[in-house]
Amino acid sequence: MISLSKPSIKKEDIDAVVSVLQSGMLVQGKEVEDLEGIARLFLQAKHSACVANGTATLHLALLVSGIGPGDEVIVPAFSYIATANVVELVGAKPVFVDIDIETYNINVSKIEEVITQKTKAIIPVHEFGLACDIESIMQISKKHNLVVIEDAACALGAKYKGRFAGTFGDFGSYSLHPRKAITSGEGGILISDVSDKMEKIRILRNHGISLASGKMDFVAPGYNYRMTDFQAALVKGQFKRINEIISRRQKLAELYKANITNSKIKLPFVPDYTEHTWQTFHLLLDKKLKRDAIITKLKECNIGSNYGAQCIPAMTYYQKKYNYNCADFFPNALLAYEQGLAIPMHDSLSEEEIMYVSIELNKL
Ligand SMILES: Cc1ncc(COP(=O)(O)O)c(C=O)c1O
Repeated sequence: MISLSKPSIKKEDIDAVVSVLQSGMLVQGKEVEDLEGIARLFLQAKHSACVANGTATLHLALLVSGIGPGDEVIVPAFSYIATANVVELVGAKPVFVDIDIETYNINVSKIEEVITQKTKAIIPVHEFGLACDIESIMQISKKHNLVVIEDAACALGAKYKGRFAGTFGDFGSYSLHPRKAITSGEGGILISDVSDKMEKIRILRNHGISLASGKMDFVAPGYNYRMTDFQAALVKGQFKRINEIISRRQKLAELYKANITNSKIKLPFVPDYTEHTWQTFHLLLDKKLKRDAIITKLKECNIGSNYGAQCIPAMTYYQKKYNYNCADFFPNALLAYEQGLAIPMHDSLSEEEIMYVSIELNKL
């Protein structure tokens, strides 16, 4: 089976995990601290905090920004569901904006239409490893005084005009789930230059514990959103190889682009101001092709595939609560959800496998 994704784990990464397990020191400790340092250095961020996953990073960023009931937060209508769920979790209202069907990222020209007195924040997503038009989003956010929490869950290493996605807003959030370029199994990294907010995040991720007074005190009803030391150990080595991992994915993406020639399949578009990391290689199928049947057909050819992300307002919880007419309001998000197809992309794919997948796609 040519799998949709596969983590880039080497023997030295496994050895690093084993060594932590043998030490008996499993919970958040030196390895997590090291990983935070590596992330800061790589992303050129002032502060970083590792937590349990990329949903927890977003949740904490909203909490320390004081977003809650009565507030509205702008999110793209097409993303992984977590982007909107965290807004619901803090009691605020996610306000959806349709995407640009070329990039699968939020349609910047539609953002100002939904800004109200209640809008407090925006969560722009760098979908599939492609940076969104973050410069324009920052301009709009400054004008309307919005907190910007960049959801770069899929985009560690992606660049916008030479600068890393996730480093423009008040917070940058990254996921280390196994479908991402580098993984800790489950994990998330949050970066920010705002020191007092990051201090609160460190307290909230660890049961509300503060050591500021020199002894352990509990200053907030916190969460247990900690990353373990063996998870940090797993990803540290991968982080050092991240440029190599991304380059390989970029090379494979070029091969797909050169070899998928079926006119019923739309290839991904990459604006020239971005550097795509290809967390997902996402195709858009012509409506003549039945996407779900194609997933089954590809499986019969030993090729893993899946849809890329959800049209979030079309999902049952959001439909029941807000009853959006997605076809009218979010046609591109709906189209990407219904006709989008993610095909195998990971650094251990061979050129032959890319050719085989391309040939099967060209037969459709
Ligand atoms: C855009 C986006 N945001 C948030 C998340 C949540 O990350 P995690 O699975 O680490 O909680 C994901 C995960 O795939 C994602 O794709």
